[in-house]
Amino acid sequence: MVKIAPSILSADFANLGRDVERIEAGGADYVHIDVMDGQFVPNITFGANVVSAIRPTTDLVFDVHLMIVDPERFVDDFIKAGSDIITVHAESTTHLHRVIQQIKQGGAKAGVVINPGTPVAMIEPVLSMVDLVLIMTVNPGFGGQAFLPECLDKVSELAVLREKYDYHYEIEVDGGVDDKTAVACVNAGADVLVAGSYVYGVSDVAGQIAKLKEGGKK
Ligand code: DX5
Ligand code: ZN
Repeated sequence: MVKIAPSILSADFANLGRDVERIEAGGADYVHIDVMDGQFVPNITFGANVVSAIRPTTDLVFDVHLMIVDPERFVDDFIKAGSDIITVHAESTTHLHRVIQQIKQGGAKAGVVINPGTPVAMIEPVLSMVDLVLIMTVNPGFGGQAFLPECLDKVSELAVLREKYDYHYEIEVDGGVDDKTAVACVNAGADVLVAGSYVYGVSDVAGQIAKLKEGGKK
């Protein structure tokens, strides 16, 4: 069964704790936390103190997507704040291998993510080390953008590489996921679907999560 990771980027920031509880009650598997610094992407969201503030409100897995320049500066803070998985952009650091080591040494699971314009070849040297590979299906920075179907070739490529080399990562997709694009993502080999505006865009959050799970059934 595909896992669902609602993104709180589209939640009500004045009621974050409530909105996290709503997805937990609605059957979400992870809570996807989009951290943006206004430099790596043209938008600013929140830092580690917000992650620690919502940590006591839920038992959900904290899936933290760092869209920040030189993430090695803040990884330890996000681990202390209660992150379970920390995912860093290959494009955001000179020392990708080192930051993945840092995340694992800190006791969290490590993920790597690539933008639509970046090939899988860029992250092949670290695939044996990571617990999660995130494929962006929009250019990061904002919720509510249109899904880029051409990115799905990379999902299939990662599924083939995992099989061939016996790697253990989950494949996650992020951006423009709804009940229709979810089907294409799962068919390509995605294990986890991030969805922001689709989940939080209507009041029946649980119903939206159920529709994604249904669409994601093979
Ligand atoms: C984009 C973020 C996504 C975003 C997805 O920069 O990484 O996680 O919240 O939002 P939707 O599902 O609305 O495309
Ligand atoms: Zn994200």
